[in-house]
Amino acid sequence: MATHVFLGSPEATEPLTHELLRSFPRSRCETHPPALVIAQDAPPLLPTSPAVVFARQILPDAEPVAAASIRLWAELLAQRCLAALPEGQPWRLHVFPHYGAADAGRHRCELIVAALREHLRQRHRRTLRALDTALTPFTPAHSLVQLALTSPETGFLSLALAPTPSALRHLVVPQPEGDVPIASDKAAPSRAFAKLVEAEIRLGLRIPSDATCVDLGASPGSWSYTALQRGAYVIAVDRSPLRPDVMQHPRLAFVEGDAFRFAPEAPVDWLLCDVIAAPERSIDLLRRWIEQRLCAAFVVTIKFKGHADYPILDSLKSFLPAHCDAFVLTRLCANRNEACAAGILRPAGAG
Ligand SMILES: C[S@@+](CC[C@H](N)C(=O)[O-])C[C@H]1O[C@@H](n2cnc3c(N)ncnc32)[C@H](O)[C@@H]1O
Repeated sequence: MATHVFLGSPEATEPLTHELLRSFPRSRCETHPPALVIAQDAPPLLPTSPAVVFARQILPDAEPVAAASIRLWAELLAQRCLAALPEGQPWRLHVFPHYGAADAGRHRCELIVAALREHLRQRHRRTLRALDTALTPFTPAHSLVQLALTSPETGFLSLALAPTPSALRHLVVPQPEGDVPIASDKAAPSRAFAKLVEAEIRLGLRIPSDATCVDLGASPGSWSYTALQRGAYVIAVDRSPLRPDVMQHPRLAFVEGDAFRFAPEAPVDWLLCDVIAAPERSIDLLRRWIEQRLCAAFVVTIKFKGHADYPILDSLKSFLPAHCDAFVLTRLCANRNEACAAGILRPAGAG
């Protein structure tokens, strides 16, 4: 049995706790405000473990740790990293605070990282050289060290050794704290573009140039706009027109009609769907497109009215891994009361 730390968002710790208790019924969950949930006596996290929609980041196999000063934190980290990390292999380090007001502890975390780097520079240069600060998807060679401070002197330490971070890529994300800030784009028809961009980043795949996309519930057109910017061809379906400049784009065809009745003449590369609908309708639509192999990749928003319907997402937790080479099922930073399913289908006939 293991202890895992789940980082949610402050307004969604209750749904996160309920979700964890559904997934790991024998575990004991304890909340550390504002947004950490510690699951004790939980099963080990495996590639087959279910996605946790309301967790932004997960610290697998975490243990409580304590140190009284920045120097002692750096020494503790150095000792634990040097003892465990595979020699010469890339590793990443996320140190973040989780106490007090908004940015309390942020500077302390930066000082701990700087002190650790200095410690390694003096005595263990090879380990320092292997420290990788990129935010790209984990490769099977990557290890991930995460330290969440719950006070200046206490925290949780997780050492996920290679290939765990890449094997758990539906659970553990390359972005520290699962935070994916998206630069604003004032030219986009609405802020909704941020959801599609974040989904691409989390999936680790951008819509390629020349891809064919169907955008269901496309108006006023931010997702179509983003796909067109990538160089894609878009069939946009909505009952209302898109912003005029997007409508007139030479690589966009607009279909006025019902998203749930639409089927492409031939399979497309991407299904994009941000329709406002009951969650079960969006989930059924996604399942149908996947089962009929109408797309090769997808980003679909599932919208909720209150909190009661969240367990409906559980049905996708076994469906998506059965059909996808890679997927995310998560509440995006850019989502409000929504979740996002994004994935890349496994080629037909592949195991
Ligand atoms: C949240 S908005 C989509 C925003 C869009 N993704 C963007 O980036 O601009 C939802 C859209 O779904 C459309 N919609 C709702 N039900 C629909 C249906 N059954 N068929 C087609 N469009 C629908 C609405 O007209 C609305 O434009």
